Amino acid sequence: MFGFPLLPEQASAIASKVDALMLFEVGVSAFFLTMIPLAILGFCIRYRRGNRVDRSNPPTHSQSMEIIWIVGPMALSLVMYVWATRLFFEQYERVPGASRIDVVGKQWMWYVQHPEGRSETNELHVPVGRPVRLNMTSQDVIHSFYLPEFRIKQDVLPGRYTELPFTPNKVGEFNLFCAEYCGTNHSIMIGKIVVMEPEDYEAWLAEKGAGPSQADEGEKLFVQHHCAGCHRGSQTVHAPRLEGVYNKPVPIQAGDEIRFEVADEAYIRDSILLPKEKVVAGYEPIMPSYKDQISEQDLLKIIAYIKSLANREISQ
Ligand code: CUA
Repeated sequence: MFGFPLLPEQASAIASKVDALMLFEVGVSAFFLTMIPLAILGFCIRYRRGNRVDRSNPPTHSQSMEIIWIVGPMALSLVMYVWATRLFFEQYERVPGASRIDVVGKQWMWYVQHPEGRSETNELHVPVGRPVRLNMTSQDVIHSFYLPEFRIKQDVLPGRYTELPFTPNKVGEFNLFCAEYCGTNHSIMIGKIVVMEPEDYEAWLAEKGAGPSQADEGEKLFVQHHCAGCHRGSQTVHAPRLEGVYNKPVPIQAGDEIRFEVADEAYIRDSILLPKEKVVAGYEPIMPSYKDQISEQDLLKIIAYIKSLANREISQ
């Protein structure tokens, strides 16, 4: 408007929808913000002292007015509620085939790991038009991953994985901010999102620093941390096998009962750091804890490896 951008560019599939909702809400607010002072001003002038107007029989109540001021705002609020809720569910919907990229926030940088092996700092390269799902965690305090041109923001929490799905729809470079005050250098915890044509992205993934895939790195760590000794090969120690376990329900011994829990990223992370909390039914709680021994980046690699075992048959 007037050559001055009031809003950032719209660079994701959801951006224009978020803007539409926001403009509607601003419009409703602006309407009441204008009408109420205008009414006050009008009455002030009309009924000012000394003005000769009819002041007899002022109405004590009006049923039609009451109905209007109850039904009107309620209808408007419901429109906003339904609209925003539908948009929220649309944004967080799990699109099948979305590529998962891991993000670790720490004071004061963003670390990004692509499953194909390439990693980067304070930058995120993604292909245009393809759905992406960020799987994020923090090494220290609460951060927030904020992409204004994509109209999305998600807190990044220590000890938990949060998700941020989006589909970029414009090639270019866009802003990445940390939107949660996280210490002295919070203001420099910024970066950029580079949206590329799919072919360029494939080429970029294969460029220098590509190294082995995230899952292969994870397998190395799996052996290094002696996980392999119990969880695969000749089992001298009794431990559950991990092939095919990812995203499947796992039986957990809870007192005398057995309950089931899906082995998602969070479950696997907990099982590595707090193995005695959730012991798989039929096994002894003998696994040592790896708390404070494996970095968040390495945990994500090990999880990627266990995930890569998802479709493998159990080989005895
Ligand atoms: Cu990280 Cu602010």
